[in-house]
Amino acid sequence: MNRFGVLNLIVAIGLVATSVTDAIDCNSRPDFKNARECCPHEDFSGNEVIAKCKDYLNADDNSPPGGHGPGHKKMHFNTCYNECIMNETGLVDFETMKVDEAKTKTFLTDLLKEKPDFVQVVTDAILKCADHVKEMREKHANDPKPTLPPGGCKPCAAMFMHCVKKETTINCPTSAWKNDETCNNLREFMMVCKPPNHRGPPQ
Ligand SMILES: *[C@@H]1O[C@H](CO)[C@@H](O)[C@H](O)[C@H]1NC(C)=O
Repeated sequence: MNRFGVLNLIVAIGLVATSVTDAIDCNSRPDFKNARECCPHEDFSGNEVIAKCKDYLNADDNSPPGGHGPGHKKMHFNTCYNECIMNETGLVDFETMKVDEAKTKTFLTDLLKEKPDFVQVVTDAILKCADHVKEMREKHANDPKPTLPPGGCKPCAAMFMHCVKKETTINCPTSAWKNDETCNNLREFMMVCKPPNHRGPPQ
């Protein structure tokens, strides 16, 4: 190899190294809708629980009283739907964020009987996320409380459910993981990038 060959090789290695380390851009959020396809499994709403809670789905549960004006695009967090799911499953006590581990094991073993690899992954996610919500609550205990609209639900159930989905995706069993570029990028984003509203380690 002549001098230029060596130089080209160094440049090529440099480019590969740069493209690997620069792969994650936390400002360009991937489409989280793909998460379901990346790690397919039954979620809580795959159960008969959904029948009891589905009326809350996309219900106007967080709009300010009196409705919203033209051009005001409302975000749906499905807070009441998520609260209903948590109420109906009864796996977590929302006052204390304590997980009923025996009930969780029974519930998940039944729900995920076609995919037993997931039982431990989802159990770990539930335990971790209950702790996470508890920490966030303690951290924000003295913040002024936003007044909920009539019939509104607290955001912590939605926060909890979102966290469980995220942790399950990150720790998805290899047997279920769709190993393609879109999914691998999504997982890397979830692992590396913090949600914008709680950056930094919990104090
Ligand atoms: C969930 O349970 C709590 C406590 O019993 C109750 O106040 C709340 O209205 C329930 N939420 C839903 C959506 O069923």
